[in-house]
Amino acid sequence: MPENITAPEKKKRIFSAIQPSGTITIGNYFGALRNWVKLQDDYECIFAVADLHAITVRQDPKAFKKNILEAYALFLACGIDTEKSIFFIQSHVHTHAELAWILNCYTQFGELSRMTQFKDKSAKHADNVNAGLFTYPSLMAADILLYQADLVPIGADQKQHLELARNIAERFNGIYGKTFTVPDGYIPEVGARIKSLQDPSKKMSKSDENANAWVAVLDKPETIMKKFKRAVTDSDAKVCVGEGKDGINNLIAIMSSATGKTADQITAEFEGKGYGDFKTAVGEAVVEEFRPIREKFDQLIQDKAYLEEQYRKSAEIALKISQRTFDKVMKKIGYLPR
Ligand code: TYM
Repeated sequence: MPENITAPEKKKRIFSAIQPSGTITIGNYFGALRNWVKLQDDYECIFAVADLHAITVRQDPKAFKKNILEAYALFLACGIDTEKSIFFIQSHVHTHAELAWILNCYTQFGELSRMTQFKDKSAKHADNVNAGLFTYPSLMAADILLYQADLVPIGADQKQHLELARNIAERFNGIYGKTFTVPDGYIPEVGARIKSLQDPSKKMSKSDENANAWVAVLDKPETIMKKFKRAVTDSDAKVCVGEGKDGINNLIAIMSSATGKTADQITAEFEGKGYGDFKTAVGEAVVEEFRPIREKFDQLIQDKAYLEEQYRKSAEIALKISQRTFDKVMKKIGYLPR
């Protein structure tokens, strides 16, 4: 290579995944998915539909199958581009479940017991506190570590799981020498913690029984408007960020995520206007953000052959990349080669 030409800097690698619940919410979108789309040009991105994680709660087989394909189509509609990124379905790449078992043996019972999501979910599904729900973070660690990811774009609620993945990686590296890249989180400044529209002290969650608490990316415009109009606020009647104004703080965060405006700009714009006007404006901004996505989704979901081609192609590449890490792990532990 001529002396004055330097090799291009190697792009950092990103991994992230989302569970295919029937409802992908605006929390998933603003907290994670939208960043995935933005990061595709500057990073080497690997994304997955986390369908193995999803069976920690009981799934109806027919609905589950439909939800997995719909989640795949929806993420493509949001702008995941399989020409730029690898985008596969987790259960199609067997190294994930295999490495998860191995990592379970390097994860402590005490660490898993401290996970707030485990505590919340086991309280919510008291009749089905299965071992998978408990060891879920080891599978998530396997997802990330298999690809030697540098960065993991997530919402704030997944931070504790990512910390655990880092600890597992460091522990394994400490015993066997450098095997895994220790990943950093990538959490957006705005939108990392979108709250419930009905109880803004809680995060917006698709598993909330009150459907007015969450807004799905694929909700119809009239449904979105109705949900925002019903959003819980306070009696202060001033559109600004403040303590004790969780509902309005949340609506400002959503408005800011949807329009790119800062909280100060939004406050100035709604000076002297009531909450009714503000809620309508937030609803309209969200409807506009998701209109093209909904249209694209409606097209994509008709073309099963295209979707299949995309996820198969990506799974093949993902398997090759992840197998390299997996083989290295097996060798370090002392397993005989297959
Ligand atoms: P999941 O499917 O619950 O959520 C997917 C992503 O959406 C983010 N998110 C939110 N962000 C802001 N506000 C909210 N109200 C909100 N609700 C959800 C989550 O932080 C997440 O980034 N275990 C993961 C999926 C997973 C994964 C991984 C993620 C499996 N393997 C490897 C990263 C790396 C989960 O259940 O996310």
